[in-house]
Amino acid sequence: MQLTGVEVRVLPDADAVAAATAEIVLSAAAEAIAARGAFRLVVAGGTTPMAAYRLLADAEADWAHWHIYHGDERCLPVADADRNSRATDEAWLSRVPIPSEQVHPIPAEQGAEDAAAAYEPVVAAALPFDLVLLGMGEDGHTASLFPGHEILPGPLVMAVHDSPKPPPDRVSLTPSALCRTRQMVVMVTGAAKRPALARWQAGEGLPVARVAAGGSALVLLDQAAMPDTAGEDPDPERG
Ligand code: 6PG
Repeated sequence: MQLTGVEVRVLPDADAVAAATAEIVLSAAAEAIAARGAFRLVVAGGTTPMAAYRLLADAEADWAHWHIYHGDERCLPVADADRNSRATDEAWLSRVPIPSEQVHPIPAEQGAEDAAAAYEPVVAAALPFDLVLLGMGEDGHTASLFPGHEILPGPLVMAVHDSPKPPPDRVSLTPSALCRTRQMVVMVTGAAKRPALARWQAGEGLPVARVAAGGSALVLLDQAAMPDTAGEDPDPERG
């Protein structure tokens, strides 16, 4: 499968995508810490990365030198089950000894505009990132950058309203921040993502396409997410 400006790796299933992602994160961390004494990672929200985060929770790493940032956050109370920070903490970050002052949640509970303003200097001080992890929504969004929504060219962090994926109010890093990274991985798994992948493959200017190309991403797909290739039915029994 070809996607403009990115490398694509197709893996058998979601577990393989999780294992590959965890391996890339650990390798990037070792390299960054050896070269610069620190590893600056942007974690993705949503459900796709959770399997990789659970693998990382059991991994051995030089956690004292890890610095964690979020690609986006939903404007919900800190303890809300739908907060990306809570899901990532529960699956991984609360289980490894990264110094708490090196884990940087987006203060989205303050409201989108105030949180974006507060997080802007945190991101500015971290750039360039060593690795940015992203997912892709069924409409081709990534982080909280949605099709048809203005993406501000200037700031590193922006407020998002009227998100088509609840909750409506969010905070997102912009391409100006997400693409300032040594490496980027986009994880896409499951049949629900086929239509967006087909649109991406067809060259549609989706937010995920823009950010992935801007970050020279590695896109990790599982077979289930692959659009039907012309003439081949991946599920012949489907009839
Ligand atoms: C969010 C995520 C979002 C996510 C995609 C894919 O806050 O929802 O940041 O960008 O990565 O919507 O979500 P799934 O991995 O759950 O399919």
